[in-house]
Amino acid sequence: MDAFRIFYDFIQLKEHMKHFGAQLTVGLVPTMGALHQGHIELVERAAIENDIVVVTIFVNPKQFNNSSDLKQYPRTIETDIALLSAHKNVIICIPNEIDVYPKNDPYSPITLGILNQVLEGKYRPGHFPGVAHVVHNLFHFIEPTSAYFGLKDYQQFAVIREMVKQTQLKVKVEGCDTVRDENGLALSSRNFNLSEEQINDALIIIDTLRYIKSKKNQFEIDHLLAKAKDFFNKGKLTLEYLDIVDAQSFKKVNNLNRKTVCCIAAFCGEVRLIDNILL
Ligand code: PAJ
Repeated sequence: MDAFRIFYDFIQLKEHMKHFGAQLTVGLVPTMGALHQGHIELVERAAIENDIVVVTIFVNPKQFNNSSDLKQYPRTIETDIALLSAHKNVIICIPNEIDVYPKNDPYSPITLGILNQVLEGKYRPGHFPGVAHVVHNLFHFIEPTSAYFGLKDYQQFAVIREMVKQTQLKVKVEGCDTVRDENGLALSSRNFNLSEEQINDALIIIDTLRYIKSKKNQFEIDHLLAKAKDFFNKGKLTLEYLDIVDAQSFKKVNNLNRKTVCCIAAFCGEVRLIDNILL
């Protein structure tokens, strides 16, 4: 494969990919840019498992339920390109909105059910339908063999799997572990909008998740959550939700006898952060 390339539309990208022949495997890493080590680990895994990696950078307006959030979303395109250019066999695609959502849109909306009613689904109306739509269209136009997503966005990962199941697209969807800084804070593009002091304050998120995990055998769920909320409220952030659900169905659970996930969303100043831990 030749040198690092950037494409600004799918037609040119597909034209370029044609040269490699149909049997080459393509790993897709969809992103909204403002790249950090969490993204890079997805790229590295995709590069190990595929012949070519396509990284898309597209700040998807359809998944922002709040226009000021969309405006404030960090954009660091030059640094993103520099970061990716150090990686072998990586192609960047920075499509325009009209390419992702053409007039003749290939997407027929799916039903997300409970996934769209709890946690992120409840607090960010329209967010998951927007994620399902964009990822569907990226899969449709790029036709990757596999696609890589972070388990930091645990519910998003479930949404994408559900979308693939319902639309019967032939893409293997892979989940990658959450990448954290040395203190445990989950890396996120949104951390770019935090001050040093806020980055320190935001550690209450992972501390609360670890608190729950360490005490999960000592208390009933409601009591455990109440204690964890008290713990969280000793910090400076504002809690949006903290809850434990079945790690597959996302239904509320009464005990921890099965695989469950504890999910949290909180505001650090204006910046909304999410994280989760498997229990
Ligand atoms: P974005 O937030 O840019 O994240 C792109 C991918 O990186 C997602 O799969 C996300 O889960 C993963 N990721 C982010 N932080 C991570 C971390 N600390 N550890 C591991 N993986 C991490 O998620 C989106 O963009 C968008 O919703 C998208 C899927 C691109 C659709 O627009």
